[in-house]
Amino acid sequence: MKKIKFATPLINFREKKEILKVLSSGIYTQASKCRKFEKDFRKLTKAKYTTTVNSCTSGMHLFYYSMGLKKGDEVIVPAQTHVATAHAIELTGAKPVFVDSNLEDGNVDIEKLEKRINKKTKAICIVHFLGFPVEMDKLKKIARKNNVLLLEDCALSLGAKYKKIHTGLWGDAGVFSFYPTKQITSGEGGMIITNNKKIYDKIRIKKSLGVSKSFLERKVPGIYDTIDVGFNYRMSEIHAVIGLEQLKKFPYFLKSRRKNFFYLKQKIEKIKNIKILFSKHKNSINAYYCMNILLLNKNLRERNLIITNLEKKNIGVSVNYPQPVPRMKYYKKKYGYKKNQFKNAEFISDKSISLPLGPHLTKKNLDHIVNSLKKILD
Ligand SMILES: Cc1ncc(COP(=O)(O)O)c(C=O)c1O
Repeated sequence: MKKIKFATPLINFREKKEILKVLSSGIYTQASKCRKFEKDFRKLTKAKYTTTVNSCTSGMHLFYYSMGLKKGDEVIVPAQTHVATAHAIELTGAKPVFVDSNLEDGNVDIEKLEKRINKKTKAICIVHFLGFPVEMDKLKKIARKNNVLLLEDCALSLGAKYKKIHTGLWGDAGVFSFYPTKQITSGEGGMIITNNKKIYDKIRIKKSLGVSKSFLERKVPGIYDTIDVGFNYRMSEIHAVIGLEQLKKFPYFLKSRRKNFFYLKQKIEKIKNIKILFSKHKNSINAYYCMNILLLNKNLRERNLIITNLEKKNIGVSVNYPQPVPRMKYYKKKYGYKKNQFKNAEFISDKSISLPLGPHLTKKNLDHIVNSLKKILD
């Protein structure tokens, strides 16, 4: 059997045709394709404001920077996440304060999170782990009560809703990723969504060097002013057309991910000593980024051996995420780490395997994954 990839973008002639059109136009940045991508994203999520960025990481950094986060401030984040979630805080000089996960869907433990709020806390950042929405009504209440900002890391949650509201719109802002493994891709890229005009205006200006008018908005070419300090975190038109075409296919992608999840689930849940991370919350629509299975009676070395054996059977898998962020070298050295400090996050890191769910998979692929897993475990 051909190698089953953990994730692969589904690109066809439509993306290729649109890329060539942009290349021929000579306009590669700050123009109509990004505007259209933002508009279509508003339609999908029902956000009031959207702005493209060149990655989810830069989008989250831009949010914190625009909100004035600085040294001495603290932001509460899940320990079980991509390092980007913490880096975006660290880059402002503020301190990420980590919190453990629950073992049902892998999302942050809300009770533990609330206990970490103190006078220095300026924001809470939650991650919709593997595309399972966090119970955002609870989080919003906590953020309001303590007068802190709430950012949603939506890197894995395109299409995920909680109580009918798209992830990213419960907090002050939400940031999506269009990295090639995600629900849709633009090559590299991201999108910030918010319903708050003040936040949107700040972010939009700082995203593009603090310049008052983009080149299309200038009445006299070449004449502009700089009203703020900022970055160049802009998305290019070339990336935007890929995203635009992907967005058209997204309903099919999401349906396919959901179908693959339940096909695998009904087969894998029969295997002994495996737990599948899953949100059964009746108010949630999940985005099914990948399926994390927890090998309950295996240690780290055995888990890694199983991954190697799956690879030998041409099955691409991953680990989301290979370490709780505070256990990673940089953070461990800076903030210290005690074994079992984030027990559930460690459990997920050391015992889980992430299985693919993308629309590139056939039924034959899914059967091969299940049968190989059974054989290897036997
Ligand atoms: C939860 C989470 N946040 C942020 C990121 C970073 O996204 P990007 O590569 O678009 O910066 C990732 C990447 O996989 C992620 O998994």
